Amino acid sequence: MTATAEQAAAYLEPLIGGPVDLAVVLGTGLGGFAEAVVDPVVIPYADIPGFPHGNVSGHAGRLVVGRLDSRRVAVLQGRAHYYETGDPAVMRTPIETLRRIGVSTLVLTNAAGSLTRDIQPGQLCIIADHINMSGTNPLIGDREDGRFVPMNDAYSQRLRKRLKRAAATAGVRVHEGIYCWMSGPSFETPAEIKMVRMLGADLVGMSTVPETILARRFGIDVLAVSIVTNYGAGLEVQAPSHTETKEVAATAGIALRRLLLSFVKGLDDVS
Ligand code: HPA
Repeated sequence: MTATAEQAAAYLEPLIGGPVDLAVVLGTGLGGFAEAVVDPVVIPYADIPGFPHGNVSGHAGRLVVGRLDSRRVAVLQGRAHYYETGDPAVMRTPIETLRRIGVSTLVLTNAAGSLTRDIQPGQLCIIADHINMSGTNPLIGDREDGRFVPMNDAYSQRLRKRLKRAAATAGVRVHEGIYCWMSGPSFETPAEIKMVRMLGADLVGMSTVPETILARRFGIDVLAVSIVTNYGAGLEVQAPSHTETKEVAATAGIALRRLLLSFVKGLDDVS
């Protein structure tokens, strides 16, 4: 447990007016989701001890706390990636801070490449499990026994079921698949894509896995959803590009926003 997260929580507590139980990390294309938050308190990461800022790619870099439906939520508009700093634990303080302000459920969103024809660009995919191909881990250097985190139900089956129910209610199509974390920032080679397909991955991306590991470290349940923006390198003639990722994510982000609002509404249902 770090002193910085304690300081961050102490800074936030008087501003946010009470505990929060659900947090959402917004990936590429989903920035607008924060607009759905009612009575928002907006706090720039730059003001919060230990929060990464200055180079939070494609995003505002701010925490938005308020209500969605009847639930108190914290929305993280922007995440830092391993490839920005070389530090796989760059999101450790934000995630530990969420735990300290009451968060028990974390929803992670991202943009990802598809490794299978069945999952097409523009569609959404729930992450059922992951493969960490980065060669690193955000808990390296953590000295406590809590670092030996079981990863069996890393992507909570209970929350995935609820999301599928919410998808049916909202009329949004969702796939489910295995996400492979590559460090980036270069995209994969066709040979690497072939390799991770053979290993059993359905999606590839440069985020989410370290945050999931950190969330499990702090006892937070995780749900993760990818916006599929492109096919992995070599699966189609066109090379993946950041522009394509941003454009497709913006469109599919509208469906994901609907899905998440339906998910939050359904959270109070029993079972
Ligand atoms: N590879 C890695 N990360 C990504 C991709 C990809 O093809 N698309 C969006 N994020």
